Amino acid sequence: MVDAGYNIRVFNPEELQQVMNINTACLPENYSTFFYRDLYQKYPETFLVAEVNGEIQGYIMCRIEKGWSKLGKLTPARLCHVVSIAVMENYRRRGIGKELVIKAMMRGRELYNSSEGYLEVRVSNDAAVGLYENLDFDKVKRNYGYYMDGEDAWVMAINLNKF
Ligand SMILES: CC(C)(COP(=O)(O)OP(=O)(O)OC[C@H]1O[C@@H](n2cnc3c(N)ncnc32)[C@H](O)[C@@H]1OP(=O)(O)O)[C@@H](O)C(=O)NCCC(=O)NCCS
Repeated sequence: MVDAGYNIRVFNPEELQQVMNINTACLPENYSTFFYRDLYQKYPETFLVAEVNGEIQGYIMCRIEKGWSKLGKLTPARLCHVVSIAVMENYRRRGIGKELVIKAMMRGRELYNSSEGYLEVRVSNDAAVGLYENLDFDKVKRNYGYYMDGEDAWVMAINLNKF
């Protein structure tokens, strides 16, 4: 089959079930329909999907938060927080995850005026840590016992001027 490549675009709420299916297939952190709808209603511009041959194979969703800079300066910041990202197993290592993060961070900066991006990631998740390091995110903190099963999280952050 010819590889038609992929297309990154804004999520459409009619596609919620497909996104939820990807989430449950790829991650142990799952959410209610209310949670997805609420994020989409508040921050539609950073809820993106990756489409391959007309089917959704990946997503990213973010929350815009007011808080303190994660990058060592004691200054208030508007943060673009990656709440969840996943790409279906058969479609990994094609650059889709990277493009989802790049587009979401660019849109967080341009459309929501965010100055920093950040996320939590399991310390054992080599693929995701590799993805964020590939994009120049820094490990800024270790959150001990952050996940329900007791695993630690890296908090990783980046200045959105880089996007
Ligand atoms: C993390 C995830 C989204 C990456 O998606 P992806 O589309 O495969 O990533 P990309 O193809 O864009 O990879 C970009 C770069 O990230 C790094 N990377 C990606 N997968 C990696 C892996 N398995 N091991 C090490 N580095 C990896 C590499 O530097 C890669 O560049 P390269 O392929 O040129 O070497 C995907 O593995 C996934 O959905 N995992 C399950 C869900 C998950 O863990 N989500 C993150 C929660 S914080």
